[in-house]
Amino acid sequence: MVYENILVKQEKNIGWVIINRPEKLNALNAQTIKELYSGFLSLRENREVKVVILTGQGDKAFIAGADINELVHLDYNQGKDYALEGQELTKLIENYPKPVIAAINGYALGGGTEMALACHIRIASDRAKMGQPEVKLGLIPGFGGTQRLARLVGKGKALELILTGRVISAEEALAIGLVNRVVPHEELTSKVVELAEEIMANAPLALRFAIQAVNQGLDKSLEDGLLLEAELFGKACATEDSQEGTKAFLEKRKAEFKGQ
Ligand code: COA
Repeated sequence: MVYENILVKQEKNIGWVIINRPEKLNALNAQTIKELYSGFLSLRENREVKVVILTGQGDKAFIAGADINELVHLDYNQGKDYALEGQELTKLIENYPKPVIAAINGYALGGGTEMALACHIRIASDRAKMGQPEVKLGLIPGFGGTQRLARLVGKGKALELILTGRVISAEEALAIGLVNRVVPHEELTSKVVELAEEIMANAPLALRFAIQAVNQGLDKSLEDGLLLEAELFGKACATEDSQEGTKAFLEKRKAEFKGQ
């Protein structure tokens, strides 16, 4: 697929997905959503890519939401289909078999906060602004915001953000657990790459099983979640990498993981 609205690149073992509509503050139109889906699929198949970083082009925005031009005059069926399409993208990211980090470089509003919520880790620039302002447009979050925000920050804080439509600073986002860390704007890329490298030093299949255990476990009872964990722990034990990782520790050397 030829991309018009995103950039997809690989640097060493890091895959980058960059929304590239800075003149529209990287708002997500239907074409961009399709391209993002395709970009994430291509990096998923690329065995050299161990971690993916999602960010926005330019200095001002991560994603300033769904493209409001496309939200005018949607009827019930069109609106539902629109939400389902966005949700497919956020599910692809959430269940991605490799860690996905959101580098939130500016406005992350509406669909922008929702895309960040689908990522496994969120690092924000100190200039980031986040929020779910859909109610100001007579809408509600449709790309998973009502569900993932409540799961991440708790029902009370989620409802406060969604009902007020208030836009919050990076510091406030950190205080409620919406982002993992806030870094100086100029250091966002280097800090996110550093984090990606720290994660990439670990066994790829273990990372995949850990994501699966946390994601799927949260939707289960504790008992069933623990069973899932045991199942995935068993799968991890059966990998070559767990043999290598445990032996390397005992032999006091650095493990060489192969993703097998
Ligand atoms: N959809 C479509 N276009 C958008 C957009 C969106 N979600 N967010 C920004 N843009 C466009 C603006 O229309 C403008 O385009 P133009 O130059 O052709 O007029 C351009 O991006 C720059 O935005 P502008 O509003 O001029 O920048 P600003 O610095 O004054 O304000 C924001 C920045 C983010 C506060 C403001 O753009 C905004 O409120 N955006 C909408 C956020 C939102 O409600 N998102 C949820 C959608 S469900």
